[in-house]
Amino acid sequence: MLGFLSQSITRFRHTGAVAPSGGRLAREMVRTIREHDGPRRILEVGPGTGPFTRRILDELRSGDSLDIVEINPFFCRTLERRLLEPFRRRHPDIPVRLHESPIEKADLDGPFDHIVCGLPFNNFPPALVRSIFRTMIDLLDERGDLSYFEYAGVRVLKAPVAGARTRELMRRHHAHARAMARRHAGDRTLVVANFPPAVAVRLRRHGT
Ligand SMILES: C[S@@+](CC[C@H](N)C(=O)[O-])C[C@H]1O[C@@H](n2cnc3c(N)ncnc32)[C@H](O)[C@@H]1O
Repeated sequence: MLGFLSQSITRFRHTGAVAPSGGRLAREMVRTIREHDGPRRILEVGPGTGPFTRRILDELRSGDSLDIVEINPFFCRTLERRLLEPFRRRHPDIPVRLHESPIEKADLDGPFDHIVCGLPFNNFPPALVRSIFRTMIDLLDERGDLSYFEYAGVRVLKAPVAGARTRELMRRHHAHARAMARRHAGDRTLVVANFPPAVAVRLRRHGT
């Protein structure tokens, strides 16, 4: 928690939150992985200190694989030490790979059945958001899905105190999220028991 907070202060644009996500949100973010029978290829993007990673590792069984992409070396070291090395010792037959890289440049071998994404999109310029979504959708299997989250009511809470530039950015983020949801059969689940309350969004590669 302190590690997360210090990274949030020094690298707020990348980290985008003051606390790691809670257990309820993590559970919702991995729901379709849990419901999937058979071997699963999973990609996690932006794990931070690993609240979603922990849940994903709990779900993994023989035949599955997990790739993780994290831009921040501090979070990579923490993840390796706390979660990944102990997991590999217990399950040497399940491949778990950590890529220390921005997702835009990661060398990944898709397709993936499930992508779990923790990136703070509201902190990114719209062109970068569009390009990251394109990358992730292209990495999905035909029947794959992508889960990401946003904090509930950010626009409503921020709009009255934000300047014109921030309001315009928020409007563009919101328009992009709506377009993605239309194109990719998006659904949204509100998770009130998170700090702050969040909405888990799920997109499918194919909207039908
Ligand atoms: C809001 S934190 C989320 C951490 C964790 N998933 C959670 O929910 O608590 C965002 C994470 O995304 C990482 N990140 C930001 N930009 C990234 C990028 N372009 N590629 C990969 N990771 C990135 C940050 O370093 C940070 O770990």
